[in-house]
Amino acid sequence: MIEAKNLTKVYGLRQDRALPLLRQAERQSAVRTAGGFLAVDQVSFSVSPGEIFVIMGLSGSGKSTVLRMLNRLVEPTEGSLRIDGADVSAMRQDELRPLRNRKINMVFQHFALLPHRSIRENAAYGLKIRQVPVRERLERADWALQRVGLEQWGDSYPHELSGGMKQRVGLARALATDAEILLMDEPFSALDPLIRRDMQELLLQLQAADQRTIVFVTHDLNEAMRIGDRIMVMRDGQVVQCATGTEIISEPADEYVSEFIADVDRSRVLTAASVLRAPLVTARWDESPGEVLQRLENVEMNGIFVLDETNRILGVATDEALARALREGETALDSCLAGDYHAVSPDLPIVEFCDLAGRHPVPVAVVDDDKRLLGVAPRAAILGALAAPKKVRHA
Ligand SMILES: Nc1ncnc2c1ncn2[C@@H]1O[C@H](COP(=O)(O)OP(=O)(O)OP(=O)(O)O)[C@@H](O)[C@H]1O
Ligand SMILES: [Mg+2]
Repeated sequence: MIEAKNLTKVYGLRQDRALPLLRQAERQSAVRTAGGFLAVDQVSFSVSPGEIFVIMGLSGSGKSTVLRMLNRLVEPTEGSLRIDGADVSAMRQDELRPLRNRKINMVFQHFALLPHRSIRENAAYGLKIRQVPVRERLERADWALQRVGLEQWGDSYPHELSGGMKQRVGLARALATDAEILLMDEPFSALDPLIRRDMQELLLQLQAADQRTIVFVTHDLNEAMRIGDRIMVMRDGQVVQCATGTEIISEPADEYVSEFIADVDRSRVLTAASVLRAPLVTARWDESPGEVLQRLENVEMNGIFVLDETNRILGVATDEALARALREGETALDSCLAGDYHAVSPDLPIVEFCDLAGRHPVPVAVVDDDKRLLGVAPRAAILGALAAPKKVRHA
């Protein structure tokens, strides 16, 4: 849907002045010496239809500049931009208008509601600019207000609403327009933490119902993790890392990213898949208790998963049950099987099952939809993942 290549922005210098400076070895200092500022430096990324793509970074890292270049509210100094196949970077101003009026909508952190207009009229405002007939736009505004849970408030005025409700009107205004792409610049930053959570939840619900392509700027990693399909981390105008939240947590690209993730709630971000290990041993249903017990002793474990030929878990055999079967002359494993284990799907957050680790004679099993064993989540791996960020990966 969006494809940005080498987007670059120099503030404070005309383009013809800036371009030769960008060719120099020390771009940033060349631009600075000439009195300009290189705010965004060769940023490339692409966003798929229906994706929530988060841009994250400290203040001044260039997030808003990147976002505003996507509808050319800020003119890129260099680089190319395609949206839905169209070369936006080459468009003239008159060609840009339909793009800004129909395809893309922007939601700001501090957007102003019109104080003397009703909430319904405020929600319809984006359509008014788009010259949608009044009846249709009020209908669409009501629909959008209903989507954000403000259907009772259409006839009220902004001063009657709380901060969180006002921000929901902003969301409704964007929804009413039917824009395929939403650009959101820290839309929830001014809200109290609890209301902010609600808004994130609402955004995810709305997104599940009708998928738009969303580029969302934030400097809050927990927010980024909660809503982002992928997160692009920026520093000093450059991309440091662009990956899913889980990837960023488990393999931060450098110290900057590590510092960011230091205070993230890892147990909510990391999933069973991120602590998945191959089981040390497993048993097949047609083996004998003697063979299996021998295998268990070799790895000094108390229990073993018994699988059928498609890797489905039939049950767990403990060392005690195996020893008893051996004593009693049993030749099949059936008599040893118990349901003494816990199975989770790979995308389950660790927080939902970490307390069960260590409660059974076998590690937590990670299974697919058909109950086939994909691997195990050993207690030590879970504790390791929840501890401080991993050592930085060196390129
Ligand atoms: N119009 C401008 N003229 C000159 N410099 C600018 C302009 N707009 C932004 N900058 C500078 O460019 C850099 C990037 O700014 P930008 O607003 O994109 O950062 P940001 O990551 O959105 O920061 P914040 O989290 O504070 O919103 C900053 O150092 C800023 O001071
Ligand atoms: Mg900003």
